[in-house]
Amino acid sequence: MIVNLFDLEKKFPEKLSEAIYDYYSSGARDEITLRRNISIFNNYEILPKLLRNVSSVNTSTSILGLKIGNPIMAAPLAMQSMAHADGEIATAKAMSSLDSIMTLPTSSNKSIEEVAPHSDKLFFQLYFAKDRKITEDILKRCYEKNYKAIVFTADAPRLGTREKDERNSFKMPENLTLANFKGTSFEKYDDYEGSSMSMHSDHLFDPTLTFEIIHWIKEKSKLPVLVKGILRPDDAAKCFENGADGIIISNHGGRQLDTAVPTLKQIRPIREEVGKDKLLIADGGIRRGTDILKCLALGANAVQIGRPILWGLAHDGQDGVELVLNILLRELVETMILTGCTNLNDISQDLITEI
Ligand SMILES: Cc1cc2nc3c(=O)[nH]c(=O)nc-3n(C[C@H](O)[C@H](O)[C@H](O)COP(=O)(O)O)c2cc1C
Repeated sequence: MIVNLFDLEKKFPEKLSEAIYDYYSSGARDEITLRRNISIFNNYEILPKLLRNVSSVNTSTSILGLKIGNPIMAAPLAMQSMAHADGEIATAKAMSSLDSIMTLPTSSNKSIEEVAPHSDKLFFQLYFAKDRKITEDILKRCYEKNYKAIVFTADAPRLGTREKDERNSFKMPENLTLANFKGTSFEKYDDYEGSSMSMHSDHLFDPTLTFEIIHWIKEKSKLPVLVKGILRPDDAAKCFENGADGIIISNHGGRQLDTAVPTLKQIRPIREEVGKDKLLIADGGIRRGTDILKCLALGANAVQIGRPILWGLAHDGQDGVELVLNILLRELVETMILTGCTNLNDISQDLITEI
């Protein structure tokens, strides 16, 4: 019986080859940040408010003017067809049916054009290619296909080393492609000893970027730009000074710099630095409704879910992703009722105490 997300996590390895399971599940180096992203939630306790008439609860909000039914978004996750043949299309449909936002990754198995018809709430995650013509072309395609924002991943001047992928000589299965790069040398991985993905990224990613690039992305895409991977208040401030429309507080699910600070810890200091009106989204280790409430109470406007989306996809495609979202949503509503919150604005900082 599936009661919570951990029940799906337990079933996940049964569905996949060991190398694909390792690719999806692992983190960088010793995986300390990966584990801390989850355990940090126990360092924060809830101080529930009582007798607040919680007979009806509303989880809706809006992000960049886009109305959504709940603050639970799907994080960009590369190569989703390794979990289920329908890949990113299944995720887009599930997120749309739950009335929330999916961010399609650059490294998807279904293309910008293939995913577009399945949701009117799509963001696109950008890995900035050294060849600016490739990046410009991708941004143009997003605009033409009605994507609502660009999520520029800033924490990847190169890929962090996931040692399991190195040992497995991880490579995308032959029957799949990186669909957004059709017709270019980036469509497939070449064979290398060690992780092919890591070599692929070294060829693709531009390590020369600075904050000014946010202006360029905005100009070329004609869309709002969110910067993903920010952990420091001063970097958050620089993003906004350079025209960002929001930031995603994230350590890439512990997959880039190991021993980087867990994201939950940085939400409050970043909110204090940038002020109450700026858009802040957080991800990393969110597995429970109480986790979502803690992120929102500390200052996030919404959260993103990473690996649990893949657990749902592998379990049952679109229905599996809907199951993940429904479990989280039910838990969030229960948490709101038990803390005296009838809408997301009621989720205030004084609900949380840090151990
Ligand atoms: C298998 C996998 C692939 C990912 N691919 C990307 C990606 O292509 N681009 C990106 O910005 N983040 C990527 N991420 C990071 C997620 O967007 C997100 O930050 C992270 O998964 C959140 O942590 P969680 O998995 O603990 O929920 C990936 C994460 C995983 C687990």
